[in-house]
Amino acid sequence: MGTDPGGLSRRRFVRLAAMGAAAAASGGVPFLLSCGDSTSPGGGASGRSPLRPPQSLGISGASFAAAPGVAVIGPDESAPAWLINGVLPGPTLRGRRGERAQIRLLNQLTEPTIVHWHGVLVPPEADGHPRFAVEPGGTYDYDFPIVQRAGTFWYHPHPHHRTAGQIHRGLAGFFLVSDQEEDALGLPSGEREILLLLQDRDGETELAFEYAPTDEDLHVGMLRDVPFGNGIRLPALDVIGARYRLRVLNASHARVYRLGLSDGTPLTVIGNDGGLLPSAVNVDSVFLGVGERIDLLLDFAPLAVGGRLMLKSLPFVVPGSAVDSSQGSEMDLLELRRAEGTGAGDPELPSALSDVPSPGSPAAERLFALESPAPGDVHRINGLSFDMERVDEQIPLGRVERWVFRNDSALPHPMHLHGTQFQVETRTGGRGAVYPYERGWKDTVLVMPLETVSVLVRFDQHRGIFLLHCHNLQHEDLGMMLNVEVV
Ligand code: C2O
Ligand code: CU
Ligand code: CU
Repeated sequence: MGTDPGGLSRRRFVRLAAMGAAAAASGGVPFLLSCGDSTSPGGGASGRSPLRPPQSLGISGASFAAAPGVAVIGPDESAPAWLINGVLPGPTLRGRRGERAQIRLLNQLTEPTIVHWHGVLVPPEADGHPRFAVEPGGTYDYDFPIVQRAGTFWYHPHPHHRTAGQIHRGLAGFFLVSDQEEDALGLPSGEREILLLLQDRDGETELAFEYAPTDEDLHVGMLRDVPFGNGIRLPALDVIGARYRLRVLNASHARVYRLGLSDGTPLTVIGNDGGLLPSAVNVDSVFLGVGERIDLLLDFAPLAVGGRLMLKSLPFVVPGSAVDSSQGSEMDLLELRRAEGTGAGDPELPSALSDVPSPGSPAAERLFALESPAPGDVHRINGLSFDMERVDEQIPLGRVERWVFRNDSALPHPMHLHGTQFQVETRTGGRGAVYPYERGWKDTVLVMPLETVSVLVRFDQHRGIFLLHCHNLQHEDLGMMLNVEVV
């Protein structure tokens, strides 16, 4: 098993089967009839397993032990994996603005690692730059204040060349920050706050957590056809007739999701990478690139008891792409089953959710051309491949800049910046628009082929070296990353 040719052809077969199901669905079969049985490898009538809520962990004095363990991916099914504190996904860290995070990483793996807090505004020594990777048996102490507004952040390893494999084997989790502005909204909490860490994996139990990328995977990015939520293959969730908060993280390698509901009900978006939007927006679908988060409100009161809805990835075409991959194919991500019961009435959502000031006008502009020089070669930024010791950009602390990402390649690149946040200004070419759910503060922006995206970045946090990279994990590991120094 593993890397044998049989494994490869089985993967190809699963992909073709999934695409066939997608074609049938778009050919007029009602969505609700096709739900849940397109890619089921078995296990229950609908082939679905209960979504597991992540465990929680306080941020002061936490221990983070990264070690080999066993991933339970469904009823009676498990696979060898690498886990933080023995759980999958990693424990959810919950901090509050004004608190201090003190976390000790213990590397109990067989290779170097370091943890990065994606989207959290930390000083450079706490940012998990690959040059801080610790050897097996080593430890790394993080100590930083939570200075930012409420939001859905996450963490994952960041050792150079090894990020994809370590996330793939199970090392990733949520980092949630709360504050008074968010408290005042009375958003659904407890059982009605659902965290969903999305990944696409091989559906075969023995292959699901094994990292053996093909040459095609290394170029395109690893795409598989079976959705996992919080490490559970083909998850389902029982809901009561009430309003829920659904916080979704794309922790995949390369997969872009276009989130939407099977019955066409619009999604109410209240937040994204950097926290709450200025106001809620209703949209039919949401593109979610790797590393991005989206914060949704869903109301299940209109759904009859016994009824089912599917959170899907709706099919889409990658603009201008000649690359033959399963990117954009339809997927059934999370089945929602209406159970008995209703919730107490929730407060009405105010029309203004959050105060999002304009970043100010830019004092400088920088262009980042995203390139794939030749098939088989690695993706680059401005012709450069990552060099740990080289500083590629220097920005004076306190400055606002316009950064322009121009995609000159045939693949999507979700671009991510450490150490600060930005606001998306324009998108030309390709999809040709900034979507309403991309307003507010973000740390990752999806740049599809043919697209040029400009963002306004405020460098107002810390001096030091941070990273700019593509969050396609194969692109990142192969060097589509630059060192950015705030001076
Ligand atoms: Cu999700 Cu460099 O980070
Ligand atoms: Cu990050
Ligand atoms: Cu990329």
